[in-house]
Amino acid sequence: SSVDQKTPLALAFESVRGSRTDAVVVPPGYTAQVLVPWGTSLAEETQEWHDDLPMTAERQATSVGMHHDGMHGFALDESTASRRFVLALNNEYIDQQALWAPEGGPTNAEEGVRPAEESRTEINAHGVTLVEVEASADGHWHHVPGSPYNRRLTSASVMELAGPVAGSDYVRTRFSPEGRLARGTNNNCGNGFTPWGTYLACEENWPNIFVNTGERFRDDARIGIPTQRSRYGWETSAGDSSEQNDEFARFDITPRGADARDDYRNEARTFGYQVEIDPYDGSRRAVKRTALGRFRHEGCWLGKLEPGKPVVFYSGHDARNEYIYKFVSAAAWEPADANRPGEAYDRLTIGAKYLDHGVLYAARFDANGRGEWLPLTPEAQTVDGRRLHQALGLAADDLAGIIINTCDAADLMGATPMDRPEWASVDPASGEVYITLTNNSQRTGEGSEATFTNGGGAVEEPGVGFATAPTNPANPRPDNGAGHIIRWREGDGVTRFAWEVFVFGAAAADSDNLSGLTEMNQFASPDGLWYDDRGDGQGILWIQTDNGYAGVAEHTNDQLLAVVPGALGTGGEQAVMTADNQQHLKRFAVGPNGCEVTGIFATPDRTALFINIQHPGNWPASEDATEQAQGSVRPRASTVVIQRQDGGQIAV
Ligand code: FEO
Ligand code: CA
Ligand code: CA
Ligand code: CA
Repeated sequence: SSVDQKTPLALAFESVRGSRTDAVVVPPGYTAQVLVPWGTSLAEETQEWHDDLPMTAERQATSVGMHHDGMHGFALDESTASRRFVLALNNEYIDQQALWAPEGGPTNAEEGVRPAEESRTEINAHGVTLVEVEASADGHWHHVPGSPYNRRLTSASVMELAGPVAGSDYVRTRFSPEGRLARGTNNNCGNGFTPWGTYLACEENWPNIFVNTGERFRDDARIGIPTQRSRYGWETSAGDSSEQNDEFARFDITPRGADARDDYRNEARTFGYQVEIDPYDGSRRAVKRTALGRFRHEGCWLGKLEPGKPVVFYSGHDARNEYIYKFVSAAAWEPADANRPGEAYDRLTIGAKYLDHGVLYAARFDANGRGEWLPLTPEAQTVDGRRLHQALGLAADDLAGIIINTCDAADLMGATPMDRPEWASVDPASGEVYITLTNNSQRTGEGSEATFTNGGGAVEEPGVGFATAPTNPANPRPDNGAGHIIRWREGDGVTRFAWEVFVFGAAAADSDNLSGLTEMNQFASPDGLWYDDRGDGQGILWIQTDNGYAGVAEHTNDQLLAVVPGALGTGGEQAVMTADNQQHLKRFAVGPNGCEVTGIFATPDRTALFINIQHPGNWPASEDATEQAQGSVRPRASTVVIQRQDGGQIAV
């Protein structure tokens, strides 16, 4: 049979030691190259970067944004797909000290009025960067200045709203009285991509760019809109009188007038969505797909794709004790809609077909290794026996209201509060879904009370939802500092699944090192994740970390690990990865001091692996990502290309 004939996949590198340096560390025989760091000009006429270069709003609008996170490559031609493509990458947030280094730091960052030019520059440093990149014959990667594919979307770019919320009263604003447009995307963290060739940028910690000092809507409170000052204080800047006078005032959503035309009360309701972008067509506005729910979306990951079946996407809400969701399209997948790389045609209409109509579900994980997807539809029955729309005080046909209040809807349906869901990834052959649960300082012991608080969101770390919740079968460790990874397989119907814990993070010396990690693969706070399908039903699961757990952080900076996972087991509380098989989990790379390692994909031929180094402390020293700085450098988040010196496939 084919099972006998296939060559078992094995990791052909030695686990690298933990390290704490200002450099990227990769296994012997590999190179790591810095590509498109923050501030790289996308234009043809380029001012060379230097550490004293002052950033301006104008320059930032045509340069790579800051704090690279999720990303994906979009081929321009099948035959050159592994050497040339459009790189789409999220610019999640900013390091104000690095941005304003030549000026000695930001002006009035904590209080007082921010200069308009600074706020505008910071707004332009957020969002999404699209840039054409290619490899030279010698394997050196570079971006293509002036490429027609180069493009920036920022926290000010005009975007369309689509799906149930579009055109509803919830999103009528001064800017868009019809409720059809939004301004900007923000805090795009993990990402997604569709089989029809579009990019998905996912809005995560967007509540923090707003402030509401007055009466709050239910959803403002639940999602954690700040009540005193926004994260960067953009609302304090005075707009240019020649432009719309609400350029900055819109970030203060305090209700002040009689209705939504008199203030910016609905502005935040145009955020919290999955944002679809056609990387091949710069003339098209991005579209916010509201049917996939409104919360702090970490990412958006395609489920198993089958002709004639619905298209499925998974997304986690990264906050303590928030939920995992899946969206199931109403339309069945038609292979004729698959991407035709490089061709110009209307991909966003295909996106509307699959992403604007469907059902959103929240996950409940049960103790027997089974789980249920709970529909967030108006007629769904809540835990206490009401209709969901009634329990939320909404009209029977108000699907928009349910989407606006997605988190409350999931509460009422009895979803399982999780340990901060971050990235997911799907084995396309088996359909098994992996998801990282990064950590949870508010996970209390068995039998304790769940304490629901509205609006406790801290600026630095998400912290809304249930302020505390007791352990449950899928989140079994109190005060889970090291995090874990779970996986599930869908059942025959849409609503049932089977799950198990895949691996628990830990320091090797921990008493609850449940997966038997060693000095060579100890990790904590898993975040980025990619199931790298290598064919024959086999693949590598890549795990990236964003760690604040001291037990591991004292030994190593954030890292990239790899494992070849076996098939889903029987389910239950026991982790699949234990002391018996931990040697298969290997550390492939370590990032520089201060960073998190995120954003991952590889070329189709698997000869180049792309990752992102976000919020480094003193890096990069040069285009060689493995080089240490001799003194201090102005830190720049960057993409890093990892290749083998012999040009072979990564990791195997
Ligand atoms: Fe932006 Fe949940 O990481
Ligand atoms: Ca991050
Ligand atoms: Ca993340
Ligand atoms: Ca994280």
